[in-house]
Amino acid sequence: MPSLCNQGMLEKMKILGIESSCDECAAAVVEDGTWVLSNVVATQIPFHALYKGVVPEIASRKHTEWIYGVVQEALLKAGLEPAGLDGVAVTAHPGLLGSLLVGLSFAKAFAWAQNIPFIAVDHMLAHLYASQLSESPAAPTVPAEYPFLGLLVSGGHSIICRVDDFDAVTVLGTTIDDAVGEAFDKVSNHYGFGYPGGVAIDKLAQTGDPLAFKFPLPNLYKGEHRYDLSYSGLKTAVINQLEQFRKKPVSEVSLGDIAASFQKTAVDILLRSLFRAVEDTGLRTIVGGGGVAANSYLRRLLGERQDLHCIFPSLALCGDNGAMIAGLGYRYLIRGERSPLTIRASARVKAFKRSYP
Ligand code: KG4
Ligand code: ZN
Repeated sequence: MPSLCNQGMLEKMKILGIESSCDECAAAVVEDGTWVLSNVVATQIPFHALYKGVVPEIASRKHTEWIYGVVQEALLKAGLEPAGLDGVAVTAHPGLLGSLLVGLSFAKAFAWAQNIPFIAVDHMLAHLYASQLSESPAAPTVPAEYPFLGLLVSGGHSIICRVDDFDAVTVLGTTIDDAVGEAFDKVSNHYGFGYPGGVAIDKLAQTGDPLAFKFPLPNLYKGEHRYDLSYSGLKTAVINQLEQFRKKPVSEVSLGDIAASFQKTAVDILLRSLFRAVEDTGLRTIVGGGGVAANSYLRRLLGERQDLHCIFPSLALCGDNGAMIAGLGYRYLIRGERSPLTIRASARVKAFKRSYP
């Protein structure tokens, strides 16, 4: 069994990463925490689209059916046999419990059978790590220097944080109600834009005017809520607009305008809190992660800020994937850390502590 305790080792370390926290059944092989040798994502979207949301029971069953084949494909694409791996990393939290358990149990059994190191990691820390991965030797990424501000935006979480190391994250602000991705999904459901909502709205918004409708911004800027976010007010206002539309002839209704105006407000809410954190902490490097970090409007607005250094993962690595799990897992493994095979899955975020500067 190879030792992963010595960071100075010349041998290249290949880690298998397994992700099954929600509706993507994913596995990848990453070398030295950086180079993505394979990245297989089997999406369950068509199975959940019928219900306009992830059905936990369907999700865990599909993971059970697919996990073996997905891992096999990740190994094949990386040109490896199981014996060529140096460790296994897997998501243990947060996520849907029944889904997490499939990947976690598989990873434990795999590591035990191969007698290789095993590490269970946090899904949101992995999203934060995704921007450090390189998908092509021709275009190596330059990782952000610590400390920086993290913008973690997904279907289940919206977090603005200070990041001092890959595992040292202090939450500055988070949503007090819905997550930003959840707001995209719910608005999209009501208007029938498509599923999942973020991608559908991002595309439709390109046909509309972001200033056509003025939706409310939450009033969270005082005391301990200074960096917090809220999406339930915006979501309700946009959904209520649909009732107004129903009273008008279809030709007068521009769904592109609704999508663009909603998207603008959703991103403005994020950026307002993020920019407050920039001013207060003096940190000018921002690292994005999570499904909503793929949003073209968000990426464009942040890209236009010449005074900030904004780093996003590639679009393929914004959503759930095994490569970010393998990359993050490598960091723990080379420190000599291991998880016990008795470790449990948990639905909640464990790795973050909340504090205000
Ligand atoms: O990180 P992720 O794949 O899964 C979770 O950990 O939740 O994020 C999924 C979320 C969904 O809410 C989806 O609608 C949103 O990310 N999303 C987007 C875009 N692509 C995916 N939201 C806005 N714009 C996008 N382009
Ligand atoms: Zn995610």
